[in-house]
Amino acid sequence: MTSPTAFGVRAFFDEVTGTVSYVLHDGASREAAVIDPVWDFDAKSGRTSTVSAQRIVDYLQAQQLDLRWVLETHAHADHLSAAQWLRTQVPAGTVRTAAPVVIGQQITAVQKVFGGIYAMDDSIAPQGRDFDRLLADGDVLQLGAIGIRALSVPGHTPADLAYAVDDGSGSGVSAIFVGDTLFMPDVGTARCDFPGGDAHQLYRSIRKLLAHASHTALYVCHDYPPAGRAPAWRSTVAEQRAHNVHVHDGIDEAAFVAMRQARDATLAMPQLMLPSVQVNIRAGRLPDADAQGRRFLKLPVNAL
Ligand SMILES: [Fe+2]
Repeated sequence: MTSPTAFGVRAFFDEVTGTVSYVLHDGASREAAVIDPVWDFDAKSGRTSTVSAQRIVDYLQAQQLDLRWVLETHAHADHLSAAQWLRTQVPAGTVRTAAPVVIGQQITAVQKVFGGIYAMDDSIAPQGRDFDRLLADGDVLQLGAIGIRALSVPGHTPADLAYAVDDGSGSGVSAIFVGDTLFMPDVGTARCDFPGGDAHQLYRSIRKLLAHASHTALYVCHDYPPAGRAPAWRSTVAEQRAHNVHVHDGIDEAAFVAMRQARDATLAMPQLMLPSVQVNIRAGRLPDADAQGRRFLKLPVNAL
């Protein structure tokens, strides 16, 4: 029997986009999964950088962790995914193939919508096979003794997954990486106004998360801390049910949807929405290079 502390979680907060990436590892086997890695992108210059992702690689190496999975909670609209770069960063001398990149199976619906928005032709049309593994609700990935169960939590996008961690000790799920569903209690919840988003679905997805045991740790995908509060990413089911400003116990679906839709109507598109989605629906790949090795992102006009 493994102890309840048999796994480790390390968060990496990206100040630029407010994204939290995680390394989850199994203490016994040293196998690790990286969740939602960020590929830095400067929109003004069009330059990418792996500074943020390198911090994760440095941590993996310092802790002598073996990267087995790269998990995406969804196709992000606020940052480019470093999945393709990160998956190949294996310790020197390792002959194992690169870690698989994983996402929810409904990504095909997101790919269809955005493939149209970007007018991606047949040669680059995004397909499920851009990812190495597509998960359905309830599918389990193994990380040493840890089971990582996919929970379908649509609403922000149709393909959102949360990843629930069961350390095999018999005490059930003790931590969930919730993706873009809940934020910290004082910030609330994720927006639902992107193509395919649905506030009704998000409410039901959140209630599904909050039906777990009260002590379950919930790790958010973003934090936008109010003035005076340091960035934070870990809460519990009990804290969210008591204090989440959008969806604490007692707020019903109709009230939530009315609040969410009114709020979404006031939000600007994320700074990196158009650069990031065309990369992220292809599992973090840039468009193919032309004959001179140049790569170009598309900027659809008046499409959103
Ligand atoms: Fe998102």
